[in-house]
Amino acid sequence: MPAIERILFTEEEINQRIRQVAGEISSDYANRELKLVGVLKGSVFFLTALARELTVPLTVDFLGISSFRHSQPVPQGAPGMVRISKDLDESIEGEDVLLVEDIIDTGFTTRYLLQHLSGRAPKSLAVCTLLDRTPRRIVQIPLDYRCFEIPDRFVVGFGLDYRQLYRNLKYVAVLNPEVGD
Ligand code: IMP
Ligand code: MG
Repeated sequence: MPAIERILFTEEEINQRIRQVAGEISSDYANRELKLVGVLKGSVFFLTALARELTVPLTVDFLGISSFRHSQPVPQGAPGMVRISKDLDESIEGEDVLLVEDIIDTGFTTRYLLQHLSGRAPKSLAVCTLLDRTPRRIVQIPLDYRCFEIPDRFVVGFGLDYRQLYRNLKYVAVLNPEVGD
């Protein structure tokens, strides 16, 4: 595919790592029931792959967000960059909630979502992300589970898009800079 510069993580590497992380989560939440909260649309692909590997009983719910990030650097201290466009369908009060993210970049989105979810009085709230790009982090957020750390390059695949395309790729790849950001 001409848009792809190089593959960072193959389908096999991703699935193997998801199995490992799912093992950790399953033992951490042994004898409890977990609620997975996904963020539309990017985390849907990771959430379903993770859910299939988890051995604890679980339920699933989704939030939709609109964020204004594209290629522009996010202005410092701009939490209003994110808003909820579709709320959860069910209450999370008293539940063990795991927020499932595709990628944590500056951290603004995750911080906003954690504030939103913690206001709903869950019993516990943790974060799991497929990708973590620490070099661009602006706000610190507690990260409980992470599959891969990535360099400061724009990536697509396994749920991540460029202009809504490439979410369906089975691998994670760096986009050719001539095509995208
Ligand atoms: P943050 O608020 O800066 O942490 O941005 C997180 C959101 O930006 C993610 O949920 C993605 O939707 C988007 N994003 C950040 N980096 C990438 C990337 O490399 N590829 C695709 N989307 C990205
Ligand atoms: Mg996106």
